[in-house]
Amino acid sequence: MPAPRTFREEPVSFVRRGGRMSDGQERAWTDLSPRYLLDPPRDVASTSVLPGSAIDPAAVWGRDAPLVVEIGSGQGHAIVHAASANPDTDYLAVEVFRAGLARTMLDADRAEADNLRLVEANAPEVLQHLLPEASVDEIWIFFPDPWHKNKHTKRRLIATGFPEIAARALRDGGILRLATDWEDYALQMREVLGGAADFTPAFEGEWAPRFDGRVVTAFERKGAAKGRDIRDLAYRRRPRP
Ligand SMILES: C[S@@+](CC[C@H](N)C(=O)[O-])C[C@H]1O[C@@H](n2cnc3c(N)ncnc32)[C@H](O)[C@@H]1O
Repeated sequence: MPAPRTFREEPVSFVRRGGRMSDGQERAWTDLSPRYLLDPPRDVASTSVLPGSAIDPAAVWGRDAPLVVEIGSGQGHAIVHAASANPDTDYLAVEVFRAGLARTMLDADRAEADNLRLVEANAPEVLQHLLPEASVDEIWIFFPDPWHKNKHTKRRLIATGFPEIAARALRDGGILRLATDWEDYALQMREVLGGAADFTPAFEGEWAPRFDGRVVTAFERKGAAKGRDIRDLAYRRRPRP
């Protein structure tokens, strides 16, 4: 029998930020997580998802509706805005930054957004194990950590192997939307997705137009203030054979 795994085999695209949550965030966590937070069975780490623990979206959201998943939702500005503007669509925020998740729950509660759920977990494992195959209409990844030093680029989320994981979760015709202010990462995203058998570009020309459902966050403002171009990309999942 193989020995049980005690650590992840793949590098992850995050370093968990330490620091205490504020009292308000702690309160939000306690009061609001029963309503908003999914708590999947874990594998080797507290942010992992045990293989074989897929949710039933119709049971989680209480209806059949289009599902949008945001990976690395940060403080939740984009997803709370989208969830309150589109009550007929369901949303899942995937993040490992606890204070950001607490802030997202507070804002969702204020906006009375019932169509939003959150999960504190490593995104590739959410796509592989938590979401049923072909259950997702759109995946959004805005300003993923760029890991710009050469010795760290292997930590980038959008790299070889990622398209297959995203394609599994997306329905036929579903969309993967990306944005970054980091040129080298934008080029890598375009190369990786451009060579992926399951995806076809959903834009013409070099880059996609700015996605109008994307609100401006601190990361975009910071990139723009440093004179960096913000680049969007969008890819459509090809129909399964
Ligand atoms: C640079 S921030 C951008 C946040 C947000 N999208 C925005 O534009 O404001 C990247 C976020 O992705 C999260 N993240 C990175 N890798 C992740 C992973 N594998 N699973 C879940 N979240 C991840 C980080 O914790 C961080 O909050």
